[in-house]
Amino acid sequence: MSRQSVQMELAERPETNIIPGQTFRLVSVPVPTEADLQDGQLLVESLYISLDPAMRGWLVDRPSYLPPVQIGEVMRAGAIARVLASKSSVAAPGDIVSALVGFAEVRILHESAGTVQKAFPLPPNGKVTDLLGVLGLTGMTAYFGMTKIGEPNKGETVVVTAAAGATGSVAAQIAKIKGARVIGTAGTDEKVRWLREEMGLDVALNYKDPDFQKKFKEATPDLIDVFFDNVGGEQLDMALARANKFSRFVICGGISQYNTAEPQGPKNFLNVITQRIKVQGFIVLDYATEFGAALQQLSQWLAEGKIRRKETIVKGGLKAAEGAMISLFEGHNTGKLMIEVKNPEGESKL
Ligand SMILES: NC(=O)c1ccc[n+]([C@@H]2O[C@H](COP(=O)([O-])OP(=O)(O)OC[C@H]3O[C@@H](n4cnc5c(N)ncnc54)[C@H](OP(=O)(O)O)[C@@H]3O)[C@@H](O)[C@H]2O)c1
Repeated sequence: MSRQSVQMELAERPETNIIPGQTFRLVSVPVPTEADLQDGQLLVESLYISLDPAMRGWLVDRPSYLPPVQIGEVMRAGAIARVLASKSSVAAPGDIVSALVGFAEVRILHESAGTVQKAFPLPPNGKVTDLLGVLGLTGMTAYFGMTKIGEPNKGETVVVTAAAGATGSVAAQIAKIKGARVIGTAGTDEKVRWLREEMGLDVALNYKDPDFQKKFKEATPDLIDVFFDNVGGEQLDMALARANKFSRFVICGGISQYNTAEPQGPKNFLNVITQRIKVQGFIVLDYATEFGAALQQLSQWLAEGKIRRKETIVKGGLKAAEGAMISLFEGHNTGKLMIEVKNPEGESKL
């Protein structure tokens, strides 16, 4: 019998929350080999797979910035992978790549889909897992959202929601680098302590605290100049009520609404007019031509210790993937969440 590898496929579209054992199914398939490769293709094995809130959106059958994942398809996911065999000039056997592998242990990818890139060279204090975090799409999302849309000036007040997450923690630190007074919100007292004591934020607040609204108001006596939003819902509404004139609202994400059948719109939206707020959504892929420059800058900040990071790495391989995805919506992670499929130091068993 041929050797098998595991992959996770979409089994049914969730109406609200992802249902364990129902939304996805794990299947064993014969391991593809070098003999299966055609010109322009690479055979890769996943090391770490990224868990992203955006995945919830890819399960919905409607037009978006990427096509929805189809029933029976391998779930889309970014990963750090090692090249096992190559008929492409993009990377050679043994190279580490950033690639859209999906939830699969081993897969054949085609270079022309633009889904495989040789890994960005790590700074001296860099780790391979940074390629999914600070030096991956979440780091770049923070970079472009904060520097191109938020554009904080020295002394301005910046508020970042989900500030202890992968994107938020980098966005908040970039605002500090730019000289702003930075307030972060998060869902546990431990995250709030980490943001204040280790990330150097000026204020951090637990949005589950019964006095959150009062504390949010007290923390923004000069109102908000830049609001970098990852969660939407109540917090977006509160920020609209505290917006300064000509403030910039960077709409990066709205995780509080991703699992709801009827997303909540902001009650205070008309403050956009009275306060002349610039509200702009964006998708990090809009800035693809500038990824190289962003990675250089993020890498330098990481090397200088101006950006610090934490990761939450779930062990257990693909069996742990569904639970890890659900845990994103329950706030179990601090910093970048990923699953370890295979430790890069380990020998390839395939
Ligand atoms: N526009 C883009 O191109 C782009 C790219 C990447 C990511 N994003 C968006 O950026 C946001 C953060 O993504 P990420 O990958 O960095 O994830 P993350 O922040 O590392 O993880 C998600 C965090 O969201 C918080 N959360 C979950 N449910 C919540 C709720 N109901 N209310 C408030 N907070 C909640 C949790 O932390 P707490 O403990 O604080 O609740 C959780 O840890 C997401 O909205 C994502 O869609 C956008």
